[in-house]
Amino acid sequence: MVQLLENPLRVGLQQERTPEPLILVIFGASGDLTMRKLVPAIYHLKQQRRLPPELTIVGVARRPWSHDFFREQMREGVEQFSSGIGAKEIWDNFAEGLYYCPVDMGNLDDYFKLDRLLTQIDSERGTRGNRVFYLAVSPNFFPEAIAKLGEAGMIKDPVKTRLVIEKPFGRDLASCQELNRAVQKACDERQVYRIDHYLGKETVQNLLVLRFANAIFEPLWNRQFVDHVQITVAETVGVEDRAGYYENSGALRDMVQNHLMQLFCLTAMEPPNAMDADSLRTEKVKVIQATRLADTRNLDFSSIRAQYSSGWMKGKEIPGYRQEPNVNPLSTVPTYVAMKFLVDNWRWQGVPFYLRTGKRMPKKVSEIAIQFREVPYLLFQSAAKQVSPNVLALRIQPNEGIALRFEAKMPGPDLRSRSVEMDFGYGKTFGIEGSDAYDRLLLDCMLGDQTLFTRGDEVEAAWRVVTPALSVWESPSDPLLVPQYEAGTWGPTASEALINNDGRQWRRL
Ligand code: BG6
Repeated sequence: MVQLLENPLRVGLQQERTPEPLILVIFGASGDLTMRKLVPAIYHLKQQRRLPPELTIVGVARRPWSHDFFREQMREGVEQFSSGIGAKEIWDNFAEGLYYCPVDMGNLDDYFKLDRLLTQIDSERGTRGNRVFYLAVSPNFFPEAIAKLGEAGMIKDPVKTRLVIEKPFGRDLASCQELNRAVQKACDERQVYRIDHYLGKETVQNLLVLRFANAIFEPLWNRQFVDHVQITVAETVGVEDRAGYYENSGALRDMVQNHLMQLFCLTAMEPPNAMDADSLRTEKVKVIQATRLADTRNLDFSSIRAQYSSGWMKGKEIPGYRQEPNVNPLSTVPTYVAMKFLVDNWRWQGVPFYLRTGKRMPKKVSEIAIQFREVPYLLFQSAAKQVSPNVLALRIQPNEGIALRFEAKMPGPDLRSRSVEMDFGYGKTFGIEGSDAYDRLLLDCMLGDQTLFTRGDEVEAAWRVVTPALSVWESPSDPLLVPQYEAGTWGPTASEALINNDGRQWRRL
């Protein structure tokens, strides 16, 4: 008999528990993230009746906007970046709970002014002193905003106040540790929600269900049966209008240290004792601590970076990264990174994990592919020259689902095999679109559930894994040359070599 361990927070969520009345204070309210993602996600939750009527949003930024101007901007955001405002009375009711407060983040007096507004809202709208402070600002403002919120006494209540911090959390191990110290000084880890939106994706969470709610996969999920694992997050977009951010970040900081690392953790970690925040995050930390780059002396065997040059995509000429607006024409920032991880533990000894991500790839596709070992001895002829090994592919996007590749007999008198697929499509089976990652994460944070947010020690451990590559790539002695790949291709030749040297190949997606 299977025992069901109930996590009260999760059970609450399944029963569509509504958060307590609260004020969501968004720092960076005039920025893209607020307009494109955060407010549309909260409005979507409102339309689904998942929020208490008292819920109030206070936008905070430097610009001298009025409440009404902020409401207008957010209305445009919802119209442009979600399925629209729908019923007018829902929007009107939502807009009544939108406020704006101009704040200079370095000025403590402005925080006191903000605090007074929040107290006033508590008495007018019944928000009971509950607050979520969301830092959707440029990362260089994180330490200051956290310190000032602490000094103003705004995050001292460990039960009623929470702090959400967007990625990237630090730009290397040292700055991540420093940021963690600033956070610890101002509040308690139980109040902190470090966002990685990949953890809010349905299919990423489904990985946990696939592994731990089925008896057939877990026995195979180890070095005895798995040959290697490939994790791919390919994007067709380039840097777009984000050069200011991207020039200081690049693919390693923007994608690998966080999103790909999370996909890796959920694939490689041991089963947690329970589905609560600390059990899950402890297992993630353990597996990251056992993980290292395959070779730190010669990065050609473990870490490849490159930058897109001009090329053609869908019949359109695409500029190279260095020609994009506001990018330094001599920039060495990588837009592509491939890495080979090894995990020194009993489960995974000797099984490489190949990770790759890039912008301006031919296709937007993200997947985790578990490739199993070959059969020990072949009894049949295959239509291809050799049988393809079994692959379990977890498609994260688009067309979310899971496919298992195996050999089947071809029709006819000969005993010949061919690779076929068993395919489960998330949308087709459940008949609904998966919800947006931000809907899910914002709701979890309002409910006080940290399971899908990263813990301080976890982020530090993730930085530790990639630091050897980062320090070589950014050392002053490293030549200013960064390998290039043409926009619209699958990356540089060096990344093919990274996997081909091991007698393996990247999957064709
Ligand atoms: C963001 C990165 O975190 O994730 C972007 O900053 C990237 O550069 C984006 O494009 C990808 O997210 P998704 O959900 O589209 O795969």
